[in-house]
Amino acid sequence: MAGNRTFTMLKPDAVGASKSGAIIKIIEEAGFRIIAMKKTMLTPERAGEFYTVHKDRPFYKDLCRYMSSGFIVPMILEKENAVEDFRKLIGATDPAKAAPGTIRNLFAKSIEANAIHGSDSDENAIIEGNFFFSNLERF
Ligand code: CMP
Repeated sequence: MAGNRTFTMLKPDAVGASKSGAIIKIIEEAGFRIIAMKKTMLTPERAGEFYTVHKDRPFYKDLCRYMSSGFIVPMILEKENAVEDFRKLIGATDPAKAAPGTIRNLFAKSIEANAIHGSDSDENAIIEGNFFFSNLERF
């Protein structure tokens, strides 16, 4: 997956507000190809595992509760320079700081309920993709 793939996940606020289709349209129109996608839910324990890098942050417990509060849509995406280009497309973590037209600027409700996740490195894209999907060598 090195270089041209990233991992993303539509979060419970966006999925619950029926914005999955609108967000996926933006992603595809920006040139990302969907390699894998599903609609699923995390338990608080699985959410904690996914976000283990943040386990010492004050928002960790709330984040795990929030991320297990509704459906999510994890996806693996393909495009040249995928990680960096996708981070630009979604905008800053805090929607108040996200550039106009970015997915978080358009859809996020708060710094926690910020509509979408995007991997921050090629290495994490692989780890996060493998967290949700298996048999990726077939795609
Ligand atoms: P994400 O990009 O998925 O990575 C970690 C998540 O933690 C982030 O999006 C937000 O959902 C959440 N998060 C980050 N910073 C804060 C914060 N200061 N307060 C609450 N939640 C946060």
